[in-house]
Amino acid sequence: MSIRVPEVCRSVAEEALSTLSAELHEVFDVRLQRWWPDIREGLAQLYSPADAQELGARLVYLAACAYRDRDPELRRLDLIRQLEPDWLQSPSMIGYAAYTERFAGNLAGVAGQLPYLKELGVTYLHLMPLLATREGDNDGGYAVTDYRSIRPDLGDMDDLREVTRSLRAQGVSLVLDLVLNHVAAEHEWARKAREGNTRYREYFHVFPDRTLPDAYEATLPEVFPDFAPGSFTWDEELQGWVWTTFNSWQWDVNWANPEVMFEYADIVTFLANQGVEVLRLDALAFMWKRMGTDCQGQPEVHAITQVLRAVARIACPAVAFKAEAIVAPEKLLAYLGQGRFEGKVSELAYHNSLMVQIWSMLATQDVRLSVQAIRAMPVAPLNSAWITYLRCHDDIGWAISNEDAAAVGLDGYAHRTFLSDWYSGQFPGSPARGLTFQYNPTNNDRRISGTTASLIGIEAAEHDPAARDLAIRALRCANAIILSWRGIPLIWSGDEVATFNDPGWAAEPGHEDDNRWVHRARLDPDRVAQRHDVSSIPGLVFQDLQALIQARASLPHLHAATPSWVGDVDDPGVLVVTRRHPLGAFVGLFNVTPGWRPWPAWRAPQYGLTAPIDVLSGDAVHPGDDGNYWLAPYAAWWLVDPV
Ligand code: GLC
Ligand code: GLC
Repeated sequence: MSIRVPEVCRSVAEEALSTLSAELHEVFDVRLQRWWPDIREGLAQLYSPADAQELGARLVYLAACAYRDRDPELRRLDLIRQLEPDWLQSPSMIGYAAYTERFAGNLAGVAGQLPYLKELGVTYLHLMPLLATREGDNDGGYAVTDYRSIRPDLGDMDDLREVTRSLRAQGVSLVLDLVLNHVAAEHEWARKAREGNTRYREYFHVFPDRTLPDAYEATLPEVFPDFAPGSFTWDEELQGWVWTTFNSWQWDVNWANPEVMFEYADIVTFLANQGVEVLRLDALAFMWKRMGTDCQGQPEVHAITQVLRAVARIACPAVAFKAEAIVAPEKLLAYLGQGRFEGKVSELAYHNSLMVQIWSMLATQDVRLSVQAIRAMPVAPLNSAWITYLRCHDDIGWAISNEDAAAVGLDGYAHRTFLSDWYSGQFPGSPARGLTFQYNPTNNDRRISGTTASLIGIEAAEHDPAARDLAIRALRCANAIILSWRGIPLIWSGDEVATFNDPGWAAEPGHEDDNRWVHRARLDPDRVAQRHDVSSIPGLVFQDLQALIQARASLPHLHAATPSWVGDVDDPGVLVVTRRHPLGAFVGLFNVTPGWRPWPAWRAPQYGLTAPIDVLSGDAVHPGDDGNYWLAPYAAWWLVDPV
């Protein structure tokens, strides 16, 4: 049954589009008809019928204006993306994330780094928060003071548009953060609220006394127990407690207020019209508050995403959404659209669980827990893609459930403790050099900061060639896992040249309390210069990664619409990843240990392989006399039948 677009929405759209040609007008109409039901349904879940109705018409007007004002070049991109709706799922998609200033100096410098990114095979560039932010500590830019201007030291909006243009010309999509849960306490909305403007006070969650904050805090976990304990901050001028999930100067906005939805819908289309192609929805789990819960991942979060997504699909459909929800594995899938949200929310989400499991497998040299945890997750919608990664700008939290641990005979708490000990280098024999982030004495939770190379043991082995080569092999194995999973592998800047922890991380003002800066070093030109020298650590790591990326791009089997499964465990040291593509089977074998490990040859035909070759070495593989394939320490094999 088709749902009619209300007359009032049609007429506001007419009004906005009056200057456009009949053809352009028609395109808008068709999109509106297609996506209006999503707007209507989402709003109905969030607001009163009267508010929903009024806001619906305003959102359509906003979408029409944004569509009208969209650069013709971007309208053309809309068309291209609609003709290739699986563009994010292609095996040639490779992501890279970096702070603009640490990677390229400023926005004008980004074009100069393009050849480097192209050499690696990057097609998706996430520039970390670069919108105007507060002075001093600003959580790496996640405290925005103005969504419509650029940090002055990086350039201005013209520079941003220029960057998107030069990237687009080279087939690279620009990804930017959209911080939806909070603004800086210095943002205009917050300033006006402090000045006593009630309209803006209602943009936030403000409480006159501790009654409600105490009641909420009874069930709220702490995100930054260490440097920002509690979830509310007293503000003298407001004469109230304001909700601040993260730092005291990051004010959570109140999404139950329809005006907030309108503001952010406008920001979405504004950024899209600058040429941004993917919006990373920062910390979206926290957007909706409900007493008696942990206030994360409430169903309304998905209704909000659905509305914003539908507005974007009408005005600027080239744009995609990526959910940043770092939550327990069983809660993760909802962000890619489960149940009635399927196909209506984000098409990308971080696979935090896979990331955690890879570090767990490497520390324990055992895949059993990971196989259990990965199998326990339902299949993500086939039109979505995971962001697979080893490291990002954030810490690693050990999102391993007690149930998964118990299913393989482990104690969840003890295992998480072990991982923190291992990666902070406190466990005897551990080569990891991580730092403990946000120790929470109430539950003994310890998260970990550190670069990939320092966590995996390359830094510790720098002067011991045998140990060094083994650690580099372990890294190659880990990368081969994320590159064979369904989704977009995302490289954290510097990891491609094995950057070590930054010993000077605390030197910059505002950073001293936040050791996540230890893995956010400036991209080191000396390491970059060594990338072709395979006698150097950066060279070995860069060449390995580049070869994996090229192999991945050549394998249609790895398209993200082809599900990834993990195979049965024959040897606890070998992870088996299978993909079943119409072209044939793909089997990835990953030895997560420093010893030789077997994989029974009779398994290959079970997964659909007859005479497999390992795409990574280019050679056919043959079982030994004992009927096993033997994998060298940290070997990664990508098996397919020759076509
Ligand atoms: C996200 C960011 C993190 C930031 C937080 C608050 O989790 O990745 O860096 O601290 O949101 O914005
Ligand atoms: C957010 C992220 C989480 C991160 C934290 C700050 O909660 O979701 O991954 O640990 O911010 O580091």
